[in-house]
Amino acid sequence: MKKIAVLTSGGDAPGMNAAIRSVVRYALANELVVAGVQGGLKGLVNGDFIELNSRSVANIIHRGGTFLRTARSPEFKSEPGLLKAKSNLEEAHIDGLILIGGDGTFRGGIDLAKVWKGQIIGVPGTIDNDLYGTDETIGFDTAVNTAKSCVDKIRDTADAHDRLFLIEVMGRNSGFIAQAVGIATGAEDIIIPEVKVNIEEISKRLIEGKKRGKSSGIIIVAEGSYPGGVFEIANKLKDLYGHPYRVAVLGHLLRGGAPTVRDRVLAIKLGAFAVKSFIEGKNLVMVGMLKGDLVNVPLKDAIGKKKALDQFLQHLQPCLSR
Ligand code: F6P
Repeated sequence: MKKIAVLTSGGDAPGMNAAIRSVVRYALANELVVAGVQGGLKGLVNGDFIELNSRSVANIIHRGGTFLRTARSPEFKSEPGLLKAKSNLEEAHIDGLILIGGDGTFRGGIDLAKVWKGQIIGVPGTIDNDLYGTDETIGFDTAVNTAKSCVDKIRDTADAHDRLFLIEVMGRNSGFIAQAVGIATGAEDIIIPEVKVNIEEISKRLIEGKKRGKSSGIIIVAEGSYPGGVFEIANKLKDLYGHPYRVAVLGHLLRGGAPTVRDRVLAIKLGAFAVKSFIEGKNLVMVGMLKGDLVNVPLKDAIGKKKALDQFLQHLQPCLSR
């Protein structure tokens, strides 16, 4: 009987538990033996394996976080760390490894393949949605819905006080979360790393808005857009624009909570498809969903190529925020 191991690594994302459950149950249905690795890639180095059966993944489908736990693993970047992981995988008789995570996790998988001969399949799990080869990553939909609820609430108080709010959202070096949340909440401006920040321009747009009768506003700022971040933008804007403002950082709020239906269904499909890809002999691929189709993308492309932001939404933003 063949044996696979599954782990979650890097930042947790809502829907990771639903993906693990799908991997485990679909693998068991296909007569594979399944192990879980606790604590992400670090768990591989430490040999932290547990056996998983159907009951191990009961009652987790609705939970945020990851019951296998996760970590960022600097040890995995060193050769001794990789060699320890390889010998632990060999000792546990693992034929294939399912990695649920983002770019750091997949980079780790590519490095591991240099020393270990088993199959490696990636499942895109990150709120950032910054992986090439899948329209969405597991966790993105929940994160943007959480952010949407927060921004809607902030808009009430912004309106009541005639204030401008600058709201920072996560996303590392990409603006997918900021774009979706900004458009969905009718933000006056959306600042993303993909577009050079011009504070004079932003101020000019705000002044024009004021002339048209706007007394409050929301600016969504993707972390990683500007050196010094949202507070530095606010500082500079204060001098130019002068309107009363407040800053809110949503941060790790976006990583928690029960996954949406959309994230659960995506996680379930991608988890099972990862197992199917293993059975079909695939190696060093990420599973993804493109326009409704399940696909395999080379792991190196998933992290090496840049997924484009929605250009139509970019074009619409200044028209709709008038
Ligand atoms: O990659 C997911 C993410 O939440 C990013 O949006 C953010 O930049 C980063 O992880 C934060 O990482 P940590 O939880 O290690 O501070």
